[in-house]
Amino acid sequence: MTHTLTTRPVAPACGSFVEGLDVKRATDADLAALSQLLAERGVVFLRDQHLSPEDQVALTARFGEVLRVPYVKHLDEHPDVIAVLKEADEKKISTFGGTWHSDFSFLDQPPSLTILYGREIPPFGGDTLWSSQYAAFDALSPRMQEMMCGLSAVQTGWPHGTKGPGPNAAVSRSVVMTRNDPTADREVIHPVVRVHPITKRKALFVNPVYTQRFDGMTEDESKPLLSYLFAHATKPEFTCRLQWEVGTLALWDNRCVLHLAINDYDGSRRLLHRTTVAGETPIHP
Ligand code: SIN
Repeated sequence: MTHTLTTRPVAPACGSFVEGLDVKRATDADLAALSQLLAERGVVFLRDQHLSPEDQVALTARFGEVLRVPYVKHLDEHPDVIAVLKEADEKKISTFGGTWHSDFSFLDQPPSLTILYGREIPPFGGDTLWSSQYAAFDALSPRMQEMMCGLSAVQTGWPHGTKGPGPNAAVSRSVVMTRNDPTADREVIHPVVRVHPITKRKALFVNPVYTQRFDGMTEDESKPLLSYLFAHATKPEFTCRLQWEVGTLALWDNRCVLHLAINDYDGSRRLLHRTTVAGETPIHP
């Protein structure tokens, strides 16, 4: 399938650059090959793309149903696009995506793909990391794999049921999020290991932002093993890293990677446009 694209791996576990493709001119065969590459490599990067918000939404729609994500304010004129923005004067604040996570894993049907396009990039810093959850699952011992395949976990929209960062916490004024919405705060149960619908490979599906506890166990009982899994899931050897440029497009598959935005660029403006593709109910092995 991927023979129609020129690709270059970023790291052994995940991430590939696709070279020489203008996504606005991608054929159906290119798109099919990109989808397959995403499922296999977890995240794909293309440099030097020229996309208006309309172009980005049109591209997103070619991968599946565009998900208008709840709880985050979207662009007024483009309701399917979120501006991932930190202004130069927003210092010492937490940023959107600044802890390892899979996007909106607390939804009944979490998004399959996320597409992020670099519009204004700091001169240095502001990189993003991804971590392969196929590699994380594969590296567990057989007994641990078996045990994890039999478990489910509770996901909630606000970290560990804290209902957001609290009234005095410094958060970005540039990414406005709904707080204390009961539909986001409710508990949703997903498998701890999910089977990817395209590759049929098993991937760990827990993350330190939204996963609260194992289903049927207390938070105290769950904590030691979850802490182990969170650390294991993001070991350096499972990751790849992107240095953004204006015009870089990153597409990732939330069913098999976690990601993290590195918040190390106080004093510079960083703006990316983000769209998402609707997903399916995660399935147990
Ligand atoms: C996100 O988590 O969607 C944002 C990632 C980034 O800003 O690099």
